[in-house]
Formats: sequence, structure tokens, C-alpha cells
Amino acid sequence: MKKENMEEQNTSQNIKDTTDRMIRVNHAGEFGASRIYEGQLSVLAKSTVGQTIQDMADQEKDHLETFDKLIIERRIRPTALSPIWSLAGYTLGVVTARMGEKAAMACTVAVEEVIEEHYKTQYETLGENDPELSKIIDKFRLDEIEHKSISNNFINLNNSSESEQDENIYPLMSKAIKAGSKLAIWLSTRL
Ligand SMILES: [Fe+2]
Ligand SMILES: [Fe+2]
Repeated sequence: MKKENMEEQNTSQNIKDTTDRMIRVNHAGEFGASRIYEGQLSVLAKSTVGQTIQDMADQEKDHLETFDKLIIERRIRPTALSPIWSLAGYTLGVVTARMGEKAAMACTVAVEEVIEEHYKTQYETLGENDPELSKIIDKFRLDEIEHKSISNNFINLNNSSESEQDENIYPLMSKAIKAGSKLAIWLSTRL
């Protein structure tokens, strides 16, 4: 094989490795997100935020199906950590929902802040290399930003009912959820 051809093949293999990893981690993340909302809905489906959570959950399902399709079409190995994300996501959803509607929404804000940044970084890394994937990531990033602002609006509207305990707990909870989400991203990119 000619040297230039080999180099070209190397570059396209590198790009494929990168995009495969992106799709793997996004597939895992959207699965985790769907599980968080399922957990929250198991507690809050009939509450005042039930429909709001359901609407976001429907969009996450859409996101998940898109990456499901890409995983199959491009023959990408899915993350081996699905069972963990299934349990961790669902548990996080149930626990935050049991803390109350505002805690559930604060959970969404924390997760989406990480995901929004994650999608932004991916979009910038991709450049012109994979227009199909770029388009998906850009669209989903906007959906996640919307989820964040819907949740933030709910929290702000209900701030008057905030007790002192909430004020102490939310920043801590948000920090823990963000750290957990980042760890999940790190692991799912690799395993
Ligand atoms: Fe999503
Ligand atoms: Fe979302």
C-alpha cells in the first residue's frame, strides 16, 4: 500500500474510533437519562410536575432511539456498563423525586448542565468530520438546554417555599450529581 493511502486510512480509522466512542457514551447517557425520568415518574407521575417530566422523558426516549439506531447501523459495541446505569439512573430518579418536586427538577438541572457541556465539546471536536453525528448532537444539545430551563423555571417559581434545609442540600446534591454524571461519561467512553 502506498504511504499516502496508509496515512489516509489511519486518519479515517482515528475519526471512526473517535465517533464510535462518542456514540457509545451518548447512547449510555441517553439511556441513563431515560432511567432517571422513569424513576422520577414512578413517584411523581400524578403530581403537578408529572406532565412536565413526562414530556422531557419522551424526548429522552427519542434521543435514546436515535443512538440505538446508530449503534446498530455502525456496528458499535455498546457500553458494558448498561446494568449499572440502569440501576444508578433509576435510583437517582426515585431518590430525588422522593425529596420533592423541586429536588427532582434540581436533579435535571445538574445533569443537563453536564450533558450540555459534553455535547458542546463533542460538537467542537467533530468539526466537519461527521455531519450526520454533528447534526444529531446539536439538536439534542438544544433539547437538553430546554430541559434545563424548564426545570430552572419551575425551581424559581417555587422558590418561596424553600426551607433552610433545602438551601443547604441543593448545592451539595447538585455537586454530587454533576460529579457522578462526569464519572459516568468518563467510564462509558472507555468501557
Ligand atoms: Fe437526552
Ligand atoms: Fe434531557
